[in-house]
Amino acid sequence: MSSAALATNDLPDLTRTEGRSLVEYGLVRAHIAAAGVALAISMTAGFLYSLQFLGWFPFADEYLSPGHLRLVHTNLAAYGWLVNGFTAMTYYVIPRLTGQRVWSAKIGWLIFWVWQFILVATVSGFLMNKAQAIEWGETPTGFRPGTFELNWIPVDLLVVIGAVLLIVQLMVPLYRARDQKFYVTLWYFTAGLVWLALTYLMGNVIPEWVLPGAAGAATTGLFIHDLVGLYVTPMGWGLMYFFVPLILQKPIWSHSLSVIGFWALAFFYPLGGVHHFLLSPIPDYVEFGAITTTIAIEVVVTTVVVNFFMTLKGKTSALRDSFAIRWFYVGAVMYFITCLQCSFQVTWTFQKIIHFTDWVVAHAHLIMFGTFTFWLFGTIDWLWPRVTKRKWYSRNLRAWHFWLSTMAIVIMFVDLTIAGLIAGFMQRELNPWNDILDASLPFWWVRTFSGAMMIAGLFCGLYNMYMTCRHGEPYDETESLIPLSAD
Ligand code: HEM
Repeated sequence: MSSAALATNDLPDLTRTEGRSLVEYGLVRAHIAAAGVALAISMTAGFLYSLQFLGWFPFADEYLSPGHLRLVHTNLAAYGWLVNGFTAMTYYVIPRLTGQRVWSAKIGWLIFWVWQFILVATVSGFLMNKAQAIEWGETPTGFRPGTFELNWIPVDLLVVIGAVLLIVQLMVPLYRARDQKFYVTLWYFTAGLVWLALTYLMGNVIPEWVLPGAAGAATTGLFIHDLVGLYVTPMGWGLMYFFVPLILQKPIWSHSLSVIGFWALAFFYPLGGVHHFLLSPIPDYVEFGAITTTIAIEVVVTTVVVNFFMTLKGKTSALRDSFAIRWFYVGAVMYFITCLQCSFQVTWTFQKIIHFTDWVVAHAHLIMFGTFTFWLFGTIDWLWPRVTKRKWYSRNLRAWHFWLSTMAIVIMFVDLTIAGLIAGFMQRELNPWNDILDASLPFWWVRTFSGAMMIAGLFCGLYNMYMTCRHGEPYDETESLIPLSAD
């Protein structure tokens, strides 16, 4: 599938084949809705946890302790919001690019409910002290440590079953279309699904059952990094390569650059994992390898960002006319900033200052919210009228959602970056811990304030989605094939 074909909307999905819709719209809707609910809970947990830093934490009982809420915040952002959101998009994009249905709608609903059950079991497991001490792999194994005695729902096992079902579900159309020339989005999705299975197994099996100590920590670093780099990134980039040409109605600027970006991601990204544990007992040569490949990733990112900005050339009015394009390109700018920042912060020189400070938290929010969440918001903005067959209820609410989110992430990022630098330099000067806390307090107030803005923005978005379903005007089917007109 060439990007020229993509841009002219000459896609295999002419919405129906053999009287049946090619895309399982019900599954797309359900995953988007579940993603929205998960994000709302995740943000609320993040907000409540941020109150702990101000000495205002509202709960005294053990179940809703700050540590538990932190796990709810990070895990629901990743597994509830991003995974549900990306799954919704793959259900829409893969059949449209291959002209083939997914394996089975029934299996789709089974996967959907298993996944939501996993999220409930994970969150309630956290509240009941069943988390594991593996960063991003905290989902409960369900076994008493070192034994095969069950003490909770074996969530890790369920995730593997759910992931395998999802992979088969989405690989079936890819396999059926194997004689076609794959558009770059399908490269990313295929690789992302295979890497997801390998990454999850690696991170949830090897450190706990096989490798102890620093070797286990190095594997955990690889897991954290690869979850973002080998699942979230290919899914995000794949979506951008699909939606940007479609909405702009023009081919992607350079097919060659997109191919370079793909192979460079596959080659460099997996080796950077240890950069999460720099200045640790992991051997220096391993850390040094991670530092070098992390810097190399910046080159890859630059090729992708250049490709997207060159595609926008001559169509900059879309930034004004299309909310989706706004979300995408603001997200792309933030992506570039995060990755540029990464190639500096990964050096030992920077690490001596920023390690264990809010700088890292600023970085995490910029990439997870400012980039990948923005890209998903963009795709939802474009897709929601098409999957609900209703026009957006309110343009103003869309604008509020965008502007509140953008201002919130800029404030949070700048605020926590400064807080990180101040704390880092104070630590280097061996200032007492209490003085560092005092210096950080005003910044933590600003973080909570920006979090409230983020939640307000999300509320506008979710309310608008709900009202679109209930009261939106009917959306014309033929109109849905002329992307920009929806805005
Ligand atoms: C209401 C908005 C939000 C608030 C108030 C908030 C607050 C927080 C707080 C207090 C932490 C813990 C920092 C620490 O332990 O020092 C945290 C961590 C984190 N949050 Fe959020 N957050 C919000 C939204 C989000 C969103 C939308 C995402 C992703 C989509 C996200 C992703 C993360 C990640 C990845 C971490 C881990 C950072 C690390 O370990 O370095 N947050 N957040």
